[in-house]
Amino acid sequence: MSRSDKNKSYDTNGLKVPVSLGVIMDGNGRWAKKRFLPRSAGHRAGAENLKELCRNCGRYGVKYLTVYAFSTENWSRPEDEVHQLMELFVEFFNKYDPELEEEGIRVRFSGDIDALPEKVRQTIAIGEERSKNRQKMQLIVAMNYGGRREIENAARKIALKVKSGQIEPEDITEKMLSDNMYLPDVPDPELIIRPSGEMRLSNFLLWESAYSELWVSDALWPDFGYEELTNAFRDYARRDRRFGGLSSKEEES
Ligand code: IPE
Ligand code: IPE
Ligand code: MG
Repeated sequence: MSRSDKNKSYDTNGLKVPVSLGVIMDGNGRWAKKRFLPRSAGHRAGAENLKELCRNCGRYGVKYLTVYAFSTENWSRPEDEVHQLMELFVEFFNKYDPELEEEGIRVRFSGDIDALPEKVRQTIAIGEERSKNRQKMQLIVAMNYGGRREIENAARKIALKVKSGQIEPEDITEKMLSDNMYLPDVPDPELIIRPSGEMRLSNFLLWESAYSELWVSDALWPDFGYEELTNAFRDYARRDRRFGGLSSKEEES
């Protein structure tokens, strides 16, 4: 990146940029396979692309970017692939923190963090601490994350309050559940992007995605670049978000 374009904002004419965006970083294995490379090379290319996505989202004005990095189901992969992913994760945050800092990106983590290896937990603690005063955008890394695990966790926290007599079962509301998710201050994503053509959430942000717009791209994650992101924001601008009500055009007539 040259110095001159450091503070450049992207032209958002004809696009709508979500405040909160979710991205399911899928397709690394297929990307590697197409090139006769090991899956680990795909994960590496995927990590490089995350850096690009952060930069592009920051400049477009996204405020919260939540990326799905490792699911509670991904432990079922071969042990060496899981190990490589954990190593890559540690390497990524050590290597790229200066660039994230330059872009003003605060890093936070969402998921069952306590169950991660010690080395990864340390990287998470350091990454959160050193970036906590950055203001431009928050990068939320969903790591050992599962939407059902998150809801289970919230239910347990609330059940404990009932058990101790702090609240009655009748006091439980949707808002209370939202407030007991991993990062309650992060707004629900208006848009969720899934590369690699798969039409499913795979346990990503189940509670938070109730009214998210979904956008699926055939590009594999390591190839998902600025152009695809722009296409997603252009398409999102044309969506009629009704939230169960009537479209704004119908309301006017
Ligand atoms: C996403 O890419 C990375 C993780 C799930 C950690 P995949 O590894 O799922 O790539 P495909 O789906 O096999 O192509
Ligand atoms: C979703 O991708 C999880 C991440 C990208 C971290 P998967 O590759 O695990 O999802 P499935 O198995 O295709 O549903
Ligand atoms: Mg996959």
